[in-house]
Amino acid sequence: MSGKRCNSDEDTMNGESSKRKKSIRIWVDGCFDMVHFGHANALRQAKQMGDYLVVGVHSDEEIMKHKGPPVFSQEERYKMVRAIKWVDEVVENVPYVTTLETLDTYNCDFCVHGDDITTTSDGTDTYHLVKAAERYKECKRTVGISTTDLVGRMLVVTKSHHERDETKGPNKNDLKEVGLSQDGRSPYTGTKQFVPTTKRIAQFSEGHEPKPNDKIVYVAGAFDLFHVGHLDFLEKASQYGDYLIVGIHSDPVVNRYKGSNYPIMNLHERVLSVLTNKYVSEVIIGAPYTVTMQMINDFKIDAVCHGMTPILPDVDGSDPYEIPKEIGIFHRIDSSNDLTSDMIVQRIIRNKFLFEERNKKKEAKEVYIENMIRKQ
Ligand code: CTP
Ligand code: C5P
Repeated sequence: MSGKRCNSDEDTMNGESSKRKKSIRIWVDGCFDMVHFGHANALRQAKQMGDYLVVGVHSDEEIMKHKGPPVFSQEERYKMVRAIKWVDEVVENVPYVTTLETLDTYNCDFCVHGDDITTTSDGTDTYHLVKAAERYKECKRTVGISTTDLVGRMLVVTKSHHERDETKGPNKNDLKEVGLSQDGRSPYTGTKQFVPTTKRIAQFSEGHEPKPNDKIVYVAGAFDLFHVGHLDFLEKASQYGDYLIVGIHSDPVVNRYKGSNYPIMNLHERVLSVLTNKYVSEVIIGAPYTVTMQMINDFKIDAVCHGMTPILPDVDGSDPYEIPKEIGIFHRIDSSNDLTSDMIVQRIIRNKFLFEERNKKKEAKEVYIENMIRKQ
């Protein structure tokens, strides 16, 4: 190992401090574009390898140089990573190749990365230096979720949307087109699709009950393509109480009010995305669209919040927040952020050709990684 290691817990001024358990600091870096639960799962595993997790995020310029345009800006990506509950600290604008100097500057013992290979634009392994110094560990990459796959879904959505407008055929609302395929493979990358399990949900879940005097806040929505707008909203909603419950609408419910091929991420993927957020205490999987008195009583809800996005009526034309409004516990929140899932899809469509090119390259990589993992 090279470089000066300066972990304060390790410093031995006297005999007693040398007995203190040394705190292990972990370094993870990456692009974290369109941050998804695959990224969060890597951070969760990394955090389990030590005590304090420092995450380095690359700038837009650095990503552009090595793999093409990111979908989320660096400011959005920094903020998204900061809000993941296993992250203790974020370092902005870190170099693409991880150096020992970087690890030493942030007092990190070693670096963690998923079991795939990341290369610079000239094909160099970005972790060759930390690997050679034996300050590198691997965590398991989460199969079935990647930025590439999400971009693929959005590019396909665009085409399907145009076709549907023209044909208005019987399959107009056929969710199977974006759901699990018969062979369990993604139609966008050809790799295995994500399979939701209770184990994964348990790993992501906070798992603690509200305390007797906790004020319970409830919000509901699609939370599709979990983004900074959601994040700003959840942060503000959490300030209305002590325990935040997020109700996530099922795929058919979201499809009813959003149409086309929405949601882009299915229910379980959206559940995991929301569970990574540090303000969220609990999630209701497939929440009813209308907030009923029974729900309010069962979950002991003290406040119900919705952002400034339109409140669409339920199937029968009624206001889904009629009851919380009547009993005076409804609050409209201004997240001061106008980003929506539709706008993210629009970003992809605007740069369709660039992303199609990028995806072609990345799809080949995804298949390669999967084959490599299978052989191990
Ligand atoms: N990661 C993971 N599982 C995934 C996706 C990413 O464990 N499904 C891990 C990567 O291995 C890495 C970290 O998340 O340790 C940050 O990943 P990033 O640099 O953003 O790369 P990818 O997500 O692999 O980017 P892309 O999909 O654009 O290739
Ligand atoms: O649109 P979706 O159902 O995912 O939104 C979930 C919640 O987040 C809603 O209350 C919505 O108003 C809020 N939101 C927000 N600011 C944004 C995006 C969503 O307050 N930019």
